[in-house]
Amino acid sequence: MSNSPIRKCLFPAAGYGTRFLPATKATPKEMLPILTKPLIQYGVEEAVEAGITTMAVVTGRGKRAIEDHFDISYELEQQIKGTSKEHLLTEIRSLINKCTFSYTRQVEMKGLGHAILTGETLIGNEPFAVILADDLCDHNSSGVLQQMVELYKKHQCSIVAIEEVPKEETYKYGVIDGKEIEDGVFMISDMVEKPDPQDAPSNLAIIGRYILTPDIFGIISETKPGKGGEIQITDALLTQAKQGKVLAYRFKGKRFDCGSVDGFVEATNFFYNKSKG
Ligand code: G1P
Repeated sequence: MSNSPIRKCLFPAAGYGTRFLPATKATPKEMLPILTKPLIQYGVEEAVEAGITTMAVVTGRGKRAIEDHFDISYELEQQIKGTSKEHLLTEIRSLINKCTFSYTRQVEMKGLGHAILTGETLIGNEPFAVILADDLCDHNSSGVLQQMVELYKKHQCSIVAIEEVPKEETYKYGVIDGKEIEDGVFMISDMVEKPDPQDAPSNLAIIGRYILTPDIFGIISETKPGKGGEIQITDALLTQAKQGKVLAYRFKGKRFDCGSVDGFVEATNFFYNKSKG
């Protein structure tokens, strides 16, 4: 048994992935592979590394491939049993054996905050992690989520992962403001979803890793649509920060924006070179 205080990880995976059309017409964007592994599998591996084994996935129409991926394919296993290809399924098979997966559908696309609220039925009343699979993270020692779980043990509050981005790119991210209370850890005083550079409170951008305390669900349900007419987790977290405390953590490691073609190609090259040692 793991001693992580966080047992569950939520994967919002209902989005359309329009930036990858036509590839994402019939394939979930979370299933696009970096080398031979789909993006969401990297996310699940990161959660497992952080001691989390209960995966909760918020899916939508056209996402069945995710469920099939984290299930046994008897026919396929039978076909390659005893051949030189058998080892190719070992890693995913062991992941399936370690974890449980449950799914719920987001019926309408009303933003990331709404997707997370949809996951409440799978999470219940306990702190949980969130991974956005298109932010793919690499590290040398411990994974981003594991770093955040360690911080959670100390502070027991919601935490967002951040990184510095060029100021002209703030319009792509949630951006925080806050006071650095220890090396790389900020007490959040403000958060803005996708501000224009001239309105951004800093260049500290939120990336797709969160640890959330369960009171966030009630807060999201009271949160009005914000940027883009969508219910934003950034807005809900600002409310939570004002009611208590929310931390931002400048993680150690490298993140690729695999939601964009450029980032996807960069990640592919990076992991390819890494695999060649
Ligand atoms: C979401 C969040 C944003 C965050 C980003 C990280 O935006 O709304 O605050 O910075 O993920 O990837 P999205 O990229 O889904 O538009």
